[in-house]
Amino acid sequence: MEKQLQLFMERAAADVEAELKALLPADDERCGRLIKAINYGVFTGGKRLRPTAFFAVLDALGTERKPYLSFAAAIEMIHSYSLIHDDLPAMDDDDFRRGKPTVHKIFGESTAILAGDGLLTYAFIAMMKNRAMLDANRLMNAMEMVADCAGLGGMVAGQAVDVLANMGNTDLEALLYIHENKTGKLFLASLVSAAILAGADKKTQEALHRYALSAGLAFQIIDDVMDLREANASGGKIRTSDMIKHKMTFPVLLGIAASEQMAQEKVEEAKAAIAFLGERGLILNALADYLVQRKV
Ligand code: IPE
Ligand code: IPE
Ligand code: MG
Ligand code: MG
Ligand code: MG
Repeated sequence: MEKQLQLFMERAAADVEAELKALLPADDERCGRLIKAINYGVFTGGKRLRPTAFFAVLDALGTERKPYLSFAAAIEMIHSYSLIHDDLPAMDDDDFRRGKPTVHKIFGESTAILAGDGLLTYAFIAMMKNRAMLDANRLMNAMEMVADCAGLGGMVAGQAVDVLANMGNTDLEALLYIHENKTGKLFLASLVSAAILAGADKKTQEALHRYALSAGLAFQIIDDVMDLREANASGGKIRTSDMIKHKMTFPVLLGIAASEQMAQEKVEEAKAAIAFLGERGLILNALADYLVQRKV
């Protein structure tokens, strides 16, 4: 299964990257710096997990991905914007992402802010690209779901609470809110928008909703654990931005072992939510496992 998932992820990444290349301008005579920053932010690595999850749902529901490639690319644009802004000095103040200098380190803060703005707004044009051949109601419902999950009903709200969360003021309940919103909701949007576009019934949509929030939480817990493990292994040489900012995270609150156990429990919950898909859910099952077993 691992091999099958790896092949699925490689194909998903190749498909979404080809679509991103086709959609995004490579340069511009007047605002070349902005366009270069956007391309740097989008094409410098990235596992493409959210488009992968989106395609996995389409596959599970027997829906061809071609008409929805630009929708998947749009979700990745929103993810890329969120990382560019997340790294800014006013947010996490990170100099490196995926082992390379962050967008603002190379292009400056104002260009990084505008690159994020440009990606977020362009994403909605990308979602509409194939509207002539898609069911208009499904498309609008899917877009509304993405807008809500990326914005005030999700990621933006989660980030707003995250920037104020430190070890002194954040309990387990607050941490769950932050993780669900800053990370879980974009996973949710990826999975449930695919279900809406494919015309899935309410039961399937709700199951994917539960899968996404459990898997998203597991993913973010492990993200924080990986940072802390790396810092611990460096014997004090590496201090993560979470440490510098005294951020509250699961491993800080519960310890590494209990955090890993909780992530594993969440993966089992995610898999249980979609058990009724049977064979059709195999990739989604393997993806949930991957989210906590990954090395990057
Ligand atoms: C990083 O997400 C941001 C979080 C929500 C923790 P990913 O680990 O999916 O980022 P890339 O795109 O693969 O680098
Ligand atoms: C990122 O969370 C969530 C976003 C919405 C961008 P983190 O701040 O923990 O992600 P990394 O560690 O910078 O990738
Ligand atoms: Mg952050
Ligand atoms: Mg960060
Ligand atoms: Mg992190």
